[in-house]
Amino acid sequence: MELREKIKSTIKRAIYPGTFDPVTNGHVDIIQRASEIFDEIVVAVAENQAKKPMFEVENRVIMAEKATRSISNVKVISFNSLLVNLSDELDANIIIRGIRAVSDFEYEFQMGYANASLKKELETIFLMPSLEYAFISSSIVRSLLPFDGKIEHLVPHCILSDIIKDKS
Ligand code: PNS
Repeated sequence: MELREKIKSTIKRAIYPGTFDPVTNGHVDIIQRASEIFDEIVVAVAENQAKKPMFEVENRVIMAEKATRSISNVKVISFNSLLVNLSDELDANIIIRGIRAVSDFEYEFQMGYANASLKKELETIFLMPSLEYAFISSSIVRSLLPFDGKIEHLVPHCILSDIIKDKS
């Protein structure tokens, strides 16, 4: 094996996929934890048109980049494919997902098993956010926006103006 290939294969690269509509303090907490465990974290922002996101994928990527700027081993990309195909492209077989409460389990297990059925090397690793972020979700943030509800404690400060500017 060429040295380049050897180095590539020893890097522990993990993918943190999601819609990130928008990225929240809970997501950043998971990214921070994952960045301390793995060599490289690829935050993969799914276009996910089926979910009719509030924010364009380009803006979701920009917000995730701003929110993770201080974490050196994090990259943010967008994707519009199966996660298993992305994992082949990135040469990464570790998927990170955050779990907040029992209610997350069913969806997460289904997705984890479905992905494993498509590619057996794929390993889904669940991380818990800090308790103070356990109730935060992008959908809660989105539901507050039409009523100008307070979101300062839910999302990184550096993306507040992007959220207000881009909400539709
Ligand atoms: O933040 P979300 O909306 O819970 O993230 C869901 C996401 C993007 C991880 C999931 O929809 C996904 O992996 N989409 C890519 C398409 C795919 O691989 N679907 C099969 C997964 S079972």
